[in-house]
Amino acid sequence: MMWLVNLLVLLEFAGCGLATLTPQLLFQTPNGSSFENLAVRPSSQLLITSTVSPTLFTLDPTAANPTLDEVFTFPNASGLSGIAEYRPDVFAIIAAVRNTTPAMDAPGSVVIWSLDFTARGAPTARRAARIPQAQFLNGLGTVPGHPDLVVAADSLLGVAFEVNVRTGAARVLIQDEATTPIGPSAPAPVLGINGLHVRAGLLYFTNGQRQTLSRVPLGNGTVETLGSGAFDDFALDIEGRAWVATNPGSLTLFTPLKNGTFEEETVVNTVLNEPSSAAFGRDGARETKILYMTTRSGQIVAVDTSGGD
Ligand SMILES: *[C@@H]1O[C@H](CO)[C@@H](O)[C@H](O)[C@H]1NC(C)=O
Ligand SMILES: *[C@@H]1O[C@H](CO)[C@@H](O)[C@H](O)[C@H]1NC(C)=O
Ligand SMILES: *[C@@H]1O[C@H](CO)[C@@H](O)[C@H](O)[C@H]1NC(C)=O
Ligand SMILES: *[C@@H]1O[C@H](CO)[C@@H](O)[C@H](O)[C@H]1NC(C)=O
Repeated sequence: MMWLVNLLVLLEFAGCGLATLTPQLLFQTPNGSSFENLAVRPSSQLLITSTVSPTLFTLDPTAANPTLDEVFTFPNASGLSGIAEYRPDVFAIIAAVRNTTPAMDAPGSVVIWSLDFTARGAPTARRAARIPQAQFLNGLGTVPGHPDLVVAADSLLGVAFEVNVRTGAARVLIQDEATTPIGPSAPAPVLGINGLHVRAGLLYFTNGQRQTLSRVPLGNGTVETLGSGAFDDFALDIEGRAWVATNPGSLTLFTPLKNGTFEEETVVNTVLNEPSSAAFGRDGARETKILYMTTRSGQIVAVDTSGGD
């Protein structure tokens, strides 16, 4: 992979980016129904959420003609959002009765479920935590080294919760100007922190209304803004880069530079249709370089990040 990093640096000096990755459409819902987030199982199969359906879907991206299949339907919910694998093949998933315009969850309806695929047969679901104070739970992330903890972004409250999925305990992990929405004075929707992921003791997060990607050390630290754009959820890779779903139709790559700043560039050569999240493949050298993306237009897209044209 080092050659690619060097190539990026060369291209950067040459004044052009790596705007050469070609997204491949794997699936499109016939009705255009929105996809919100996704996670990749150890088997390489995708788990896909929609804010307008209480059903979790799966899709095998390695199939010749991938189909969308139902996995599990959560009770007392109208939509799902963040999903994250907190133990091997065990996933935390946000479910709620949600209103999309304006975007908010019905008071008291927000639940983080645990869905366990480790046994044979159908997955088993467990209500891991209720978050009664939540107003609009959106992105979800794991906390490396702490397999009972997840972090969840509340876009309306403008906070990140830390949730213990074993005990159900939840607390506000961070509330900062950088995580809050701006408010009605800025273009709608009034949503702040959206995607969030923890890596190497740092919480990376996007903010919808402020249009930023930021990071902050876990515990009390100063928020650092890495760049700006109409960002949704994102994936971090093993080189510390962030691949960010960007509205209305792009993928933005943040590459850390030696001096501590980040290079920000658009890396797809075609227009994506309202991308909402991104996750890397599993299980095998090629798969781990494939970035899978969901879109709000009901698409599943694969971007091979191992090279450009
Ligand atoms: C749209 O398609 C999805 C996925 O197949 C399905 O779950 C959903 O019920 C459909 N929505 C409508 C309104 O038909
Ligand atoms: C669904 O909500 C109803 C009414 O609040 C409650 O009685 C029931 O226990 C809930 N079911 C589940 C599975 O959470
Ligand atoms: C972080 O700051 C808050 C508010 O100043 C304080 O209450 C809390 O104890 C601090 N936590 C840590 C881990 O330093
Ligand atoms: C960091 O390095 C990049 C690329 O060499 C340069 O463009 C940028 O100005 C530097 N920023 C700082 C704060 O040194």
